[in-house]
Amino acid sequence: MRAKATVIAPANIAFIKYWGTADWERTLPFNPSLSMTLRECVTRTTVEVLSREENDSVSLMTGEGSLEPAAEAFTRRVVPHLERLREWSGEEVSFRVATENSFPMGAGMASSASGFAALTLAVVAALGKQVSSEEASVLARLSGSGSAARSVEGGYVKWPAGEGNEGEHAVQVATADHWDLRDVVAVLQEQAKDVSSREGHERAPSSPYFEPRQRLLPDRLETVTQAILTRDFAALAHTVEEEAIDLHLIAMSSHPPIFYWRPGTLEVLAAIRRLRQEGAEVCATMDAGANVHMICTPESEAVVAEEIGAISEVSSLIHDGVGRGPMIVDEHLI
Ligand code: DP6
Repeated sequence: MRAKATVIAPANIAFIKYWGTADWERTLPFNPSLSMTLRECVTRTTVEVLSREENDSVSLMTGEGSLEPAAEAFTRRVVPHLERLREWSGEEVSFRVATENSFPMGAGMASSASGFAALTLAVVAALGKQVSSEEASVLARLSGSGSAARSVEGGYVKWPAGEGNEGEHAVQVATADHWDLRDVVAVLQEQAKDVSSREGHERAPSSPYFEPRQRLLPDRLETVTQAILTRDFAALAHTVEEEAIDLHLIAMSSHPPIFYWRPGTLEVLAAIRRLRQEGAEVCATMDAGANVHMICTPESEAVVAEEIGAISEVSSLIHDGVGRGPMIVDEHLI
């Protein structure tokens, strides 16, 4: 039997955003970032080891539940990463890859983060290799999806950035059990966003607000880290929303500008501010997309879902929460 492994890896939602790439060769960011690893939004990937004479192949689970060869654009991102992992391992082999997402792809839901974390860990496992979490983080990051560096760990995860070994891989700040936070996602756009994160990273330094944000980040990182360690929701909420707005401020003022928001995004943001004034523990954050991640405490989840779910532009809600990180499983896709 051919060697095979399946990994389920989670998406993550950034509280402090990676926005702007300093080194494309090694996927190194201009700034540190910090995220919450999710539980329900996951990618399951099976990797089978083939002989080198065969070609790498990539298939994707369709909405109808059948595995089909992946679209060319998708394969074009996956195969170079297989190449990289092949080089890293020194093994003369090819790979058959099958993958499935539990959530809409390309709609600001970090499908690349979970996807490349799952792919990386599944290749490593299928080859029978062991890696530390630091090494897994670096390997996942080299895919070009920087946020994948944070998806190899559970709980609350920081990617420090900066030069040297310390900055190159993500580290856990607190476990999932430390603080049970929820993420209710208001889905406003199911189809892929118009401008990729990669494009956004490239344009970010052209915004006049890029530099000012860099100066604010050390304090923000410290505030969010302390808020997590002390479970201080009010402190967390303030900085998380500030960060989300700044990412989009930079996107909108880049050259050329990028507008990820939809009218519904503003409506959801206003409703969240109102809910907070009424006492709910909730704040909003958006990655490079229109969907709004509503970070809240378990006590506030029901009221958030009820109020935001009633907004007509919101097509659906995804209930998620902090998760424990990737797992190797026996249920293979192929
Ligand atoms: C806005 O380059 O990691 O989500 O490859 O599309 O997953 P993908 O994006 P990546 O950039 C992530 C940008 C962000 C902020 C963040 O997750 O830190």
